[in-house]
Amino acid sequence: MLFPHTKLNDFDTPCYYYDLSVLRETLNLIKEATSSHPNYHVHYAVKANVNPRLLQLISERGFGADCVSGGEIEAAIASGFPANKIVFAGVGKNDDEIRLALTHGIQCFNVESLPELEVINELAASMDKVATIAFRVNPNIDAHTNAKITTGLNENKFGIAMEDLLPAIKKAQALKNVDYVGLHFHIGSQITDMAVFEHLCERINELQDELDKAGITTRSINVGGGLGIDYTSPLSHPFPDFYHYFDVFANNLKLRKGQELHFELGRSIVAQCGALLARTLYVKEGHAKKFIIIDAGFTDLVRPAMYGARHCPLNLSAPAGSPTDTYDIVGPICESSDVFSTGETLPVTRRGDYIVFYSTGAYGEVMASTYNCRKLPKVYFSE
Ligand code: LLP
Repeated sequence: MLFPHTKLNDFDTPCYYYDLSVLRETLNLIKEATSSHPNYHVHYAVKANVNPRLLQLISERGFGADCVSGGEIEAAIASGFPANKIVFAGVGKNDDEIRLALTHGIQCFNVESLPELEVINELAASMDKVATIAFRVNPNIDAHTNAKITTGLNENKFGIAMEDLLPAIKKAQALKNVDYVGLHFHIGSQITDMAVFEHLCERINELQDELDKAGITTRSINVGGGLGIDYTSPLSHPFPDFYHYFDVFANNLKLRKGQELHFELGRSIVAQCGALLARTLYVKEGHAKKFIIIDAGFTDLVRPAMYGARHCPLNLSAPAGSPTDTYDIVGPICESSDVFSTGETLPVTRRGDYIVFYSTGAYGEVMASTYNCRKLPKVYFSE
């Protein structure tokens, strides 16, 4: 990502900066990596970032959308995603959201429980419609990622257990206002070990064998999202290896004739095009540590406080070759968890220095809050 170092004074901090050329390049890479697979469909997981300019760029490139609320469906449609490329997931879809999705005629509901199936059927009947549905299956796979962003284990709240699936499909097939078309999986986020996705393919293959035996036809498989990015070296590795990722599915997943394969990528599409820029308010010499106190807090970027995530920090103001020191970088919010990172070696930092945190395009701006009556971070674009 190219940061406009010469224009730093034009930025009102704390703020997000998006390099749209990085986003375009990422979208191009995904298009190239899937071009030999006409049955692969990538839906952008809108939850990662709903900034309308990013949404618009992504929709213009022909991607679908993966939404988890009525608000996200509305945001996706307002930014040009066609309703028939929108999939709708979530363990707790409320009646208004289901009606909204039916009114727009979305592509598919990813259904997470039998009570939800019944409600979708009833609401669709009352609107004289048929809802296209897939079942979200919990494949009980350990994604080997942060426990707070793993979703495919039996202990997680998501999806239907593999052993309960067959009766669920039979039930759906008996209902008049739902049309069962597929299976949906999502096992976690920030997955960097491709063996995890191979494991997912094996589970899907086993499940498909069982469904074949039961004479059930499945038109689409949705493997969710979760592809991780390089948080440690974002400047030298700005793009995930999409070829490798899609190849894992091409080489391991035994799709049946005519089956479509759907993906719901969020982080890997938008993370590296965004950076959070902050300014140093004070450098405080504590007894045990030195603190860089910046004007951004967890209200602007919650990932460090919430998941212990580290976003690569850089002092953009220090001249090259400056001596270094060791700092904890902290925010101004009245909570001890308002810490961006600890024990960072940075050039000797002074009041007014600009500190940037890379890889914040995903789950950054979109998770911002106004706690402590703070203002939401401002947003700038490269063009
Ligand atoms: N599909 C479903 C059903 C999901 O729940 C998610 C993310 C995705 C797709 C997109 O996953 P991705 O490709 O972005 O990994 N706030 C957390 C991440 C939460 C992810 C929730 N689900 C973070 O900042 O790490």
